[in-house]
Amino acid sequence: MLLSHLLPLLGLLQSQTSAAALQSESHKTSTLRHCQTTGKNCPAGTITVSQTSKEATTYNTIQSAINALPNNTTPQTILIKAGTYTEQLNITRAGPITFLGETTNPKDATANRVRITWAAANKDSTGQSVDNVYSSVLVVAPTLESSLTGSGTTGYPVPSDTPFGNTDFRVYNVDFVNEWSDYSDGPAHALSLSRANGGFYYCGFFSYQDTVYVGKLGNAYFYKSIIAGQTDFLYGFGTAWIQSSSIQLRGCGGGITAWKGTNTTFTNKYGVYIVDSDVRAANTSIAPDIIGECALGRPWNSQHRSIFARCTEDGSITASGYIDWVVSGVARFQKGVTLMAEYAVSGPGFNRTGRVEGGVTTLLDKEGWRGFSEPERVFQKPTGEFGNVGWIDWGVVGEKV
Ligand SMILES: *[C@@H]1O[C@H](CO)[C@@H](O)[C@H](O)[C@H]1NC(C)=O
Ligand SMILES: *[C@@H]1O[C@H](CO)[C@@H](O)[C@H](O)[C@H]1NC(C)=O
Ligand SMILES: *[C@@H]1O[C@H](CO)[C@@H](O)[C@H](O)[C@H]1NC(C)=O
Ligand SMILES: *[C@@H]1O[C@H](CO)[C@@H](O)[C@H](O)[C@H]1NC(C)=O
Ligand SMILES: *[C@@H]1O[C@H](CO)[C@@H](O)[C@H](O)[C@H]1NC(C)=O
Repeated sequence: MLLSHLLPLLGLLQSQTSAAALQSESHKTSTLRHCQTTGKNCPAGTITVSQTSKEATTYNTIQSAINALPNNTTPQTILIKAGTYTEQLNITRAGPITFLGETTNPKDATANRVRITWAAANKDSTGQSVDNVYSSVLVVAPTLESSLTGSGTTGYPVPSDTPFGNTDFRVYNVDFVNEWSDYSDGPAHALSLSRANGGFYYCGFFSYQDTVYVGKLGNAYFYKSIIAGQTDFLYGFGTAWIQSSSIQLRGCGGGITAWKGTNTTFTNKYGVYIVDSDVRAANTSIAPDIIGECALGRPWNSQHRSIFARCTEDGSITASGYIDWVVSGVARFQKGVTLMAEYAVSGPGFNRTGRVEGGVTTLLDKEGWRGFSEPERVFQKPTGEFGNVGWIDWGVVGEKV
C-alpha cells in the first residue's frame, strides 16, 4: 500500500486511541461492568432504578429517575436493575447520561435482563393517526418538534433555533420492545433519536415497523446489538452506524432501510451504515416463509443513502438487493443521487446477477467505500464538521471478545 494511503489510516487509529485515553473515569469499561454485574463501585452519583427495592434512594420507574437529573451538563449514570419496565421514556436533557442495564453477561445482548416495553403505533385511542414519535418506547430529542417525523420529502420543518439535545447518551445491555402487534401494523418505534448523539452497546430493539428512527441531526452508533423488524425498520434523516450487530427479519415489507436525505450547504453523509453485521431471518420458523423475499431497503426520498458493508446476508434477501419505491407512478430512485449500496457482503443473500439486473443496488469497490469506511468519516456536527465521534465508547468497541 502506498504511504499516502497509509497515513490517513494511521491518523484515524490515533484519533480512536486518544478518544479512548480521554475516556473519563466514570466511563471506564471496568467501572461500568462492575456496576452492572454487582451493583457496586458504580460511577459517583449513580441513581438506581428498581421495581422491587424499598430503599428511599431508589426510583421505581426509569422516567422518574430521568426527571430527577439536574438540568446541567454534568455526566449522570442510571443503573437499571433487572426487570420488565412498561413505560415510555423521553430524554430532553443535554448533559451526558449513561444507562447501565443490570446483567450477569455484559458481552451478550441475548442475555439482557432489563426490558423496557410499550405497545403503541401511530394512532391514538380513537384510531386517529398521530405522528410516529408518540409510539416510541424511548425518545431522545430536545423538543417535541425536533422529534416529529412529519411528511413530504423534507419531513417536519424543525425550527432552526431549536437547541441541540443530548450530546452523549450511552446505553448498555437494555432491550427496548414495542409490543403493539406481531406484524407490521403502522409505525411503532422502539427508539426515536433526533438532534442528539447516542451510543447503544449490547442493546436490543424489537418491533415490526419503523423500529429504529434516527431523525434530523441525530447521530446513533450501535454495537453488538440486535435490531428486529419487518418493514422499513431502520429509517430516518440522520446518521446511524451499526457495528457487529444482528439485523433480524421478522417478515418482509418495504425494505430494511428507508432513509430521507437532506440538502445542506455543506457535504453531508447522512445515512445508515450497517457494518460487519449479520442480516438474517429472526428464527428458523419464519425463515422458510421469507426466502428471497426481503429487500435491503427502499428510497424514502431520492437522496436515500444506506450501505451494507462486510455483512453476511442469509437467503431471505431478494435477488435485486434493494428495491425502488414508486408513489403515484413516480419512482423515487434516481441514478447518481440515490445511494443504496453494498460493499464486500457475503452469504446466500448476495446474488450478483440479481443485483445487476435489478439496477438499483450499487456494488461499491474498496475505493467507493473508503469515504464512508470509519465512523469518523460519516458522523458530523450540526454545522457539518466531520469526526464527531467523542461520544462513542471506544473502550467497549475496542475490547477483545
Ligand atoms: C434546562 O436548562 C436550559 C438551559 O439553561 C433551559 O433553556 C431549559 O429551559 C431548562 N429546562 C428545564 C426543563 O428546566
Ligand atoms: C418529551 O418531553 C418534552 C419536555 O417535557 C415534551 O415537550 C415533549 O412533548 C415530550 N415528547 C413526547 C414525544 O412526548
Ligand atoms: C419467529 O419469528 C416470528 C416473527 O417475529 C414470530 O412470529 C414467531 O413467534 C417466532 N417463532 C419462534 C419459535 O420464536
Ligand atoms: C435537493 O435539491 C435537489 C436539487 O435542487 C432537488 O431536486 C431535491 O428535491 C432536493 N431534495 C430535498 C430532500 O430537499
Ligand atoms: C439470482 O438472480 C437471478 C436474476 O434475478 C435469478 O435468475 C437467479 O435465479 C438468482 N439466483 C439464486 C440462487 O437465487
